Amino acid sequence: MTSRLLGRRGLISLAVALAVLVPIGWLWFTSLVPDELAPMEMGAADYGGGAAPMEGHQHGAKAVADLTGPRTGTPDVTVTLVARKERITLASGERVDGYTLNGTSPGPLIRARRGDLVEVTLVNESVKGGTTLHWHGVDLPNAEDGVAGVTQDAVPVGGRHVYRFVAEHPGTYWYHSHQVSDAQVRGGLLGPLVIEPSGQDVVALVHKYDKRRTISGRTGQSRVDRPAGAQVRVRVVNTDDSLLRAGLVGAPYRVVAVDGRDLNGPTPVENAAFRLPAGGRVDLEATVPSDGSALRLDAGGASLVIGPAGAPVPADPLGPSDVDLLSYGAPAATGLDADHPDRRFEYRIGRRPGFFDGWPGLWWTINGKKYPDVPMYMVAEGDVVRMRISNSSGQPHPMHLHGHHVLVLSRDGVAATGSPWWTDSLEVADGESYEVAFRADNPGVWMDHCHNLKHASQGLVTHLAYMGVTDSYRIGHGNDPE
Ligand code: C2O
Ligand code: CU
Repeated sequence: MTSRLLGRRGLISLAVALAVLVPIGWLWFTSLVPDELAPMEMGAADYGGGAAPMEGHQHGAKAVADLTGPRTGTPDVTVTLVARKERITLASGERVDGYTLNGTSPGPLIRARRGDLVEVTLVNESVKGGTTLHWHGVDLPNAEDGVAGVTQDAVPVGGRHVYRFVAEHPGTYWYHSHQVSDAQVRGGLLGPLVIEPSGQDVVALVHKYDKRRTISGRTGQSRVDRPAGAQVRVRVVNTDDSLLRAGLVGAPYRVVAVDGRDLNGPTPVENAAFRLPAGGRVDLEATVPSDGSALRLDAGGASLVIGPAGAPVPADPLGPSDVDLLSYGAPAATGLDADHPDRRFEYRIGRRPGFFDGWPGLWWTINGKKYPDVPMYMVAEGDVVRMRISNSSGQPHPMHLHGHHVLVLSRDGVAATGSPWWTDSLEVADGESYEVAFRADNPGVWMDHCHNLKHASQGLVTHLAYMGVTDSYRIGHGNDPE
């Protein structure tokens, strides 16, 4: 009957078509990301060669929701941030569509001193689909980490959420939405956070609004006044998706801190650039020249002149050489015995054709697996963990682990010889591999993802989870961290 309708050729082409379509259909179907996803049940647990929890042994389990900062005590710094979706007027006057905090983007600079109890109330006035605030680089208690579906539920329009944490580590940080973070961060739902002490400092938050590069909300060249002879610490924050070459021109400078951690024995460099990964921060220190001229910070097409009012701006461009943290500064004790780790993990980034959530394309893989079937790195509190991050995906990835700083041990097999290099935002170029180590000292469920947020939204995301911590938040149903 069928053979009469289709004929022999017809049957053969039908068989060929099915032979092609059925497997494709299967690949498509299995790539769909479930509507609801428990962060702890994603992919496969990877114990890195260390002990796994004993069956049914849930004694002393802690819930993410209980891993909060201090709930009592009068805060030293109190901030309310009202989030809105609206048209922004940049500090330099241009108008773009995006998001504001208290009517501006970047949002207000939050300054705290070491040891301060910080309390931030996020009020969502008009960000449809909800929002959160993540404190990028601040190693705080898990429930304050601000990741929708992992450490809290997204704050809906009309809702509020209070974050409380102690500002423990002086340095340069930033905050940003971690709900639909790709679009919300690009749209400016972010701002700077500085934990002092320090003398004269200048915050230079770099962000691209609608393809316009800005420094602290200003396109082109802007100025801050500082007297001749003043020592300034320029805190550069890269809030964009790609590497930023930044540096000071007009006087030698020292790279005094990276990702909120001071470097040991920084030496002066001149006209060199620092390659600042997406999400990363660098503190550059220099003295305003005594001859009445100014310094200039160059940061990817925008610049900031620092010096006496009206001082001439140095004309020379940023030179071609780059500071390499692998050998910059002087070694010092790290307090971490990376030679005897409790666990070793591989974080191998690749790319392959297929489907992701039903869409055909070239998709990121971690250890050969696509999201959400990616490895879940399992640790016990107190472990020394070693991780090898390698990249053969054809593109660079700025890798960001929440809640911890990692110590860089080597790059492409070449051991680090400079200052201890603690980072939370590490650029891993195509073809590169890094060995890093850290101490698992902050229980919770932590994101470990690419901070090119477009890549994260395409599945370059996994988690580090502590055994004995339970997470009842769910990704999906209004929580979409990327
Ligand atoms: Cu700056 Cu997971 O974030
Ligand atoms: Cu990436």
